[in-house]
Amino acid sequence: MPALARRLQDVQPSGSTRMSVRARALRAEGHRVLSLTVGEPDFATPPHAVEAAHAAALAGRTKYPPNDGWPELKEAVRRKFLRENGLDFAADEVIVGNGGKQVILDALLATVDPGDEIVVPVPAWSAYADIGKLAGGVPVLVPCPQNNGFKLRPEDLEAAITPRTKWAVLNFPNNPSGAALTREEVAGLTAVLMRHPHVWVMSDEMYEHISYVDTGFHSVAAVEPGLRERALTVSGASKTYAMTGWRVGFGGGPRALIKAMTNMQSQTTNGIATVAQAATIAALDGPQDGVAERRRIYRERRDLVVSMLNEAPGLQCHRPEGAFYVYPSVAGLLGRTTPGGRRLESDEDVAAALLEEAHVATVSGAAYGMSPYIRLSYATDTETLREACGRIAAFCRGLA
Ligand SMILES: Cc1ncc(COP(=O)(O)O)c(C=O)c1O
Repeated sequence: MPALARRLQDVQPSGSTRMSVRARALRAEGHRVLSLTVGEPDFATPPHAVEAAHAAALAGRTKYPPNDGWPELKEAVRRKFLRENGLDFAADEVIVGNGGKQVILDALLATVDPGDEIVVPVPAWSAYADIGKLAGGVPVLVPCPQNNGFKLRPEDLEAAITPRTKWAVLNFPNNPSGAALTREEVAGLTAVLMRHPHVWVMSDEMYEHISYVDTGFHSVAAVEPGLRERALTVSGASKTYAMTGWRVGFGGGPRALIKAMTNMQSQTTNGIATVAQAATIAALDGPQDGVAERRRIYRERRDLVVSMLNEAPGLQCHRPEGAFYVYPSVAGLLGRTTPGGRRLESDEDVAAALLEEAHVATVSGAAYGMSPYIRLSYATDTETLREACGRIAAFCRGLA
């Protein structure tokens, strides 16, 4: 076979994808597998968004869109940034992409040269490091310790920045730990970033509406307007409006960066599906009560899952303040043996054994750069969560 590109050597399918594939195979064998792997709301897309997509298609709005998004969608995104985040962007400071993921890909490919460093606090969604590597960059992983609630400490951020740093990525509320920051905590980090004007700042705020911090969510670029010329704020429709399959993400940032990202998009996808753009305008401009209602439901599920997992011997589950994940430590399970004869040496062994023997799919912390933990998504119904946590507890009790 002719060779594949060297740049793909270090890039693996994501941990959650690998577990989902194995879970599907077990299901095909007839097992009742409960999956807590995927970071995807179990709710339906709001009907008014679906209707807007339908109406746009019937009205013939099915031609190539502008690379950076329909002007009317960009206006809706601008209004959203102003209303919800206190960020005032001009039209050419906003871009719409195929999911937040493409916005991140655009930004890194448009800026990272071989050898450039990308500071990524871990645990982290694996895309920053993997996309950074695709661009020739070098991820610099900065541990966010559990005893600090998995939050990034300013001194650790400071220590990670070098003259080669191109980007610092912040993602709070965080996938996978659920850590969310107060305004003061964000300010502690922006104070560090202000001292390093050669660094681009990416704030991935995909889970901004799933924060349980009493004082609410604070956008990084709004907390420190001095970062305006080098901060990219990323968000999207996927998690807020249960629209993962529509593939709509957006970014707001300095004009020159957005222009370069638009160029990237012109050579990759030529913009995003028009019907998805119509749906997103309706979601952004329509009633927002569903957002708060879903947040309330997620919060109840978090409380259920944290309390059930903390009753399982050997697990220790931190209570996160955001997103829809928990990230329990499995340190207390290591060195033990399962009824099926598997010896648990790592969090990958724990996730594999839970899937094979308890038929509960989770993702190992190794996939997020911090072990020994597993990630569970609680974006699923309460009955499934109860049964899954019950099976996990029984698995822990059954270890020798
Ligand atoms: C932290 C974070 N950012 C961005 C995304 C990408 O979202 P999408 O591409 O669906 O908009 C995800 C999805 O899991 C995520 O967890």
